[in-house]
Amino acid sequence: MLELLVIVSLIIGAIIAIRDHYINQPVRCPSRVLLKGKTAIVTGASSGVGLETARALAERGARVIMGAEDVKRATKECVHIINSTSNKDVFVRELNTGLMSSVRDFTSEILKTESALHILVNASSVSAPRVKRLTPECFEYTMATNHLGPFLLTNKLLGLLKSSTPSRVVVLTSEGHRFCRDIEPEALNNKLRTYMGSFEVYGQSKLCNNLFTLELAKRLQGTGVTANCIHPKTAGDEIFSKSLKNNLHSFTTNLMDLIQKVEKLDARSLDYLCVSDEIADLSGKYFVNSEVCQGSRLSRDKNLARKIWEASENLVGLLPDERH
Ligand SMILES: NC(=O)c1ccc[n+]([C@@H]2O[C@H](COP(=O)([O-])OP(=O)(O)OC[C@H]3O[C@@H](n4cnc5c(N)ncnc54)[C@H](OP(=O)(O)O)[C@@H]3O)[C@@H](O)[C@H]2O)c1
Repeated sequence: MLELLVIVSLIIGAIIAIRDHYINQPVRCPSRVLLKGKTAIVTGASSGVGLETARALAERGARVIMGAEDVKRATKECVHIINSTSNKDVFVRELNTGLMSSVRDFTSEILKTESALHILVNASSVSAPRVKRLTPECFEYTMATNHLGPFLLTNKLLGLLKSSTPSRVVVLTSEGHRFCRDIEPEALNNKLRTYMGSFEVYGQSKLCNNLFTLELAKRLQGTGVTANCIHPKTAGDEIFSKSLKNNLHSFTTNLMDLIQKVEKLDARSLDYLCVSDEIADLSGKYFVNSEVCQGSRLSRDKNLARKIWEASENLVGLLPDERH
């Protein structure tokens, strides 16, 4: 049984690899909006959804700043984007969202060099390690990278977003936010707590992404800046949820479905959130692909969202004049 599962997994992996490299061209959002004269920042832009979003925005003519921890890798991808889109206004800036000092360096540089910011996509993310890991700044690694860093980054750039309206903040989250059944704002960093296991820790960080978006949208009401979060339902996620089922029958019967969904492994729904006129006035929403969905009960708790916001402000050390 196990051997069969391994073989099936290998076949799926091979199909995905072939598709990625030789066959499928990414599908794009049907919107014809052009972004000439607009500036976008995409974090986590050296691979995955972040990279595809950077490419999609570059194709629309935006000035794109790719925030990446691995500058060498991101620069390689940046050159591909420039060559394939003929948009030369795409470049890489070093950004480690797990390190608040790096987030501060990145945003200081942006505030010095950029006079406007129309789109901010927070796509940098890690899955939680099996055992607890602390960053050099003594934050729990997953919470720092997935929530606290993006929280600080967005807050530091809010002034620029507000002076560039209409503008949008898009936060990558995951259906994995449902793994989290409980969260204590006062113990958000998890530094001192017993490690809860990777699903729970990842789920907590993703729940924070939803709650952050909810509170951010509230604070941005009437400013012309919108904030929404999204679970991009792509192939990786399909494989992930299927492997959880641990059931050969559903695994194989869903294989064809998976192969069809592989066609959608791209940034179409993210591109949609960044540019579509249809959702220009929507804010504080949770999207799965391009549809507004209802997140978990906790993710809709406005009181909790405010408390998580305040705890995050304190943890990242937001100064009074940096608060919104
Ligand atoms: N893909 C899916 O199926 C799926 C499904 C649901 C939700 N999501 C969500 O979508 C987001 C992106 O997922 P993905 O599939 O694109 O993941 P991915 O391919 O692993 O991309 C994550 C990106 O974040 C970067 N990153 C990691 N640590 C970083 C750090 N400390 N500082 C800056 N950047 C860092 C990675 O850079 P390096 O590669 O250089 O480390 C990479 O570019 C995540 O929030 C995830 O929860 C994805």
